[in-house]
Amino acid sequence: MKLYDRWKVLTGIVIFLIAVTFPIWYGKAKSVPPPDLKLDTPAIQALKEKLCVEPAPTMRASHMRLLISWRESVVRDGNRTYRASDGKVYTISLTGTCLECHSNKTEFCDRCHDYAGAKPNCWSCHIMPEEVRR
Ligand code: HEC
Ligand code: HEC
Ligand code: HEC
Repeated sequence: MKLYDRWKVLTGIVIFLIAVTFPIWYGKAKSVPPPDLKLDTPAIQALKEKLCVEPAPTMRASHMRLLISWRESVVRDGNRTYRASDGKVYTISLTGTCLECHSNKTEFCDRCHDYAGAKPNCWSCHIMPEEVRR
């Protein structure tokens, strides 16, 4: 094979590889895939309706605001019950209520926060139940 032909063949192979792998690296370059949030905890599996305290889109957008208002309710008013918009009543507790259902904090809360670059600084005081047991 002449050197000239070899370059043609090599160029062809390179173009072919780029074309074939294009969908893979194009997607990667555009965005990191959204996190895979796990909802398969024992408490959630035991639910008849797989619902959060408030509808999922509301939770996704404003769970931080809900948590802050929960804290105000407890710390300012000594009120530890929350009536949700659907009328269900919950005990106000970050670790006892949110993390009772979302007991897989690392695969749920943390995974999304890592993805979004959010770093809630709550866990120095609010201790996960398992962390106490260990
Ligand atoms: C410096 C320690 C500290 C940090 C950090 C902290 N908290 Fe608290 N938080 C407390 C204390 C103390 C109470 C009162 C506990 C009680 O009366 O049950 C409380 C109560 C709460 C309550 C209501 C009661 C409960 O058990 O859930 C919520 C909700 C809450 N905090 C949310 C948060 C969130 C969200 C963060 C992070 C953004 C956070 N806190 C960070 C100390 C802290
Ligand atoms: C009774 C169990 C339960 C409790 C308590 C609970 N959750 Fe949920 N949560 C769920 C379920 C089930 C879903 C999925 C709902 C859906 O897809 O409609 C969910 C969804 C969410 C989502 C949206 C996830 C997404 O898909 O983007 C966030 C954020 C969330 N929860 C945070 C919280 C926080 C913060 C608390 C405490 C204030 C809390 N949850 C309390 C069961 C619960
Ligand atoms: C679907 C993605 C997602 C999930 C799931 C999620 N969060 Fe968040 N969280 C965010 C984003 C994004 C922010 C930052 C919002 C902002 O800065 O406005 C945030 C912010 C917060 C804050 C406020 C931080 C601060 O310092 O102001 C708290 C507290 C919080 N999340 C708690 C939780 C808890 C507890 C869970 C699990 C029960 C959870 N989040 C699950 C996306 C998520």
